[in-house]
Amino acid sequence: MCGIIGFAGREEAAPILLEGLARMEYRGYDSAGIAVRSEERGLQVKKTKGRLQALFDLTHGGADLEGPLGIGHTRWATHGEPNDINAHPHISEKGNIALVHNGIIENYLEIKEHLIRQGVHFTSDTDTEVVAQLLEFHYNECHSMLEAVGRVLRRIEGSYAFGIICSDYPNALIAARKDSPLILGYGKGGNFIASDVTAIIKYTRDVAYMDDGEIAVVTADHIDVFDAELTPVEKQHSLVDWDVSAAEKGGYAHFMYKEILEQPEAVRKTISPRIREGRVVLDEFSMTAEEAQSISRIFIIACGSSYHVGMVSKYNWERLLRRPVEVCLASEFRYSDPLVDEHSLVIVISQSGETLDTMAAMREAKRLRGRTLAIVNVVGSSIAREADHVLYTWAGPEIAVATTKAYSTQLVLMDLVGLYLGDLLGTVDRAEYDAILSELQALPEKMRAVLADITPIQYFASRYFNHDSIFFIGRNLDYAMGLEGSLKLKEISYIHSEAYASGELKHGTISLIEPGTLVVALGTYGPLFDKAMSNVVEVKARGAEVLAVTTETFRERMEKTADATVAVPDTHPVLQPSLGVVPLQLFAYYVALQRGCDIDKPRNLAKSVTVE
Ligand code: AGP
Repeated sequence: MCGIIGFAGREEAAPILLEGLARMEYRGYDSAGIAVRSEERGLQVKKTKGRLQALFDLTHGGADLEGPLGIGHTRWATHGEPNDINAHPHISEKGNIALVHNGIIENYLEIKEHLIRQGVHFTSDTDTEVVAQLLEFHYNECHSMLEAVGRVLRRIEGSYAFGIICSDYPNALIAARKDSPLILGYGKGGNFIASDVTAIIKYTRDVAYMDDGEIAVVTADHIDVFDAELTPVEKQHSLVDWDVSAAEKGGYAHFMYKEILEQPEAVRKTISPRIREGRVVLDEFSMTAEEAQSISRIFIIACGSSYHVGMVSKYNWERLLRRPVEVCLASEFRYSDPLVDEHSLVIVISQSGETLDTMAAMREAKRLRGRTLAIVNVVGSSIAREADHVLYTWAGPEIAVATTKAYSTQLVLMDLVGLYLGDLLGTVDRAEYDAILSELQALPEKMRAVLADITPIQYFASRYFNHDSIFFIGRNLDYAMGLEGSLKLKEISYIHSEAYASGELKHGTISLIEPGTLVVALGTYGPLFDKAMSNVVEVKARGAEVLAVTTETFRERMEKTADATVAVPDTHPVLQPSLGVVPLQLFAYYVALQRGCDIDKPRNLAKSVTVE
């Protein structure tokens, strides 16, 4: 979604802003702009619809804008179509304030009408311009930028991260946040603000996370932070534990491909610090057996792929924990008057830690006195900071919009939490606990084995990429895994695809199967393999072309019926999705490649969805 960068330093700001915006391109955007201030030329603003290259060309790589202070933005349209005028930064009517904004101002219409009555003229359709104009209105009254920002924040409702520069303030930019992430970066030749640490990681790993209601004044030498009452606040610094190379393609054609290959190592990093002397140790989420016993119900809340992780965990946890587990789409949960109480354990899963629906659902769960545990990848993100407990997936920065390594690390972390709770509850016997744990530790090697043999998947992608509708079928964990395989395929290749629980086919969907329909049949879940096979026979009988994913144990049987078969190594049944999903990710990747799609930045999608 939208991205913000700001710089106050001693060198030219424009090239730094453009580079920072380029590093946030993966988030998805439809227009971009920068504003820079210099002593001689005052405020200069350039913005345009389209790719960053257009802004780069428009500004000759930033050379057309002069000055060491500036803000930049990539926009993902919410209010008003993507065009040059609606792009950020927005300028106040007198032209002395430039502002960039992530989030949504809910009461912007009412404020706009008020300002129009005061004689203010608007040029764009955005909620953001209203804030720029309101700020100028208050600045004209009080002649202090900090005070004017404070007044504006008291007036507006909604979510925001702001970066602001004013022609009367040659050295400082102002930042503010509520419900939208903003990071302060402490650099050597200047200081930064950014909505995403990747934008500034080349310059500094020394950061602080702004909290809701805070306002920061950023100059080349200092960052001063204030609370909503303008009282100074001491910020705790954090050191980002990855460097710029982790967020670069490193010679690969796409981030998605690189991230698929990084999965074994990411999974290892997520698991290994949490297994000590044959036990799962979750320092950040420890519970007594009594506390565990008091949990009557478990909710897992997430969106998209993170929700699919929840689907896998529901099957596994209900079997291992003998507790009801409800998996909820965050966007539904938040308005469903959920039955959460103090005996509920509420797990929220989010790669970005900024997904607005997930955040709102978590707040609702907290309001209802549920105990919240966040499974998050981005350190210091809003969900991570607001949850009662947080466990990080150590996947490193994930840049491709289609998640792969974050999904895989979420899966194994949920397996660890399941084992931990099962042990406390006494519902997992020692032999099974040991078997799952030892197979978890073997997963990185087995994933490497899958990744070492991708030629058949490349071949199947070239054989099937022309289909315009693809069904994924499977039972139990294979069904949950199919949901993810189907989402991967549709989001990056734009092929219509659906995932069905195989047993449901005969209740309607089988009417869509006709000669030549491609069905990806998932048969990795051993306990239900025979049932899965009968469904494969069922669709074959109606003329479907079947691409099957199974395990080495079942390869021979599957090959007798399916048209094409990929087999992954065997592991403990509860962990099989961690291996089975890899060929599905690769299949989606190669199909999208064949179709010439923009794999890392699929149309209409954003990496982190910070609006409702
Ligand atoms: C997955 O490939 C998607 N990009 C999307 O479904 C994603 O998983 C979803 O938006 C949730 O994001 P989060 O994990 O950052 O909360």
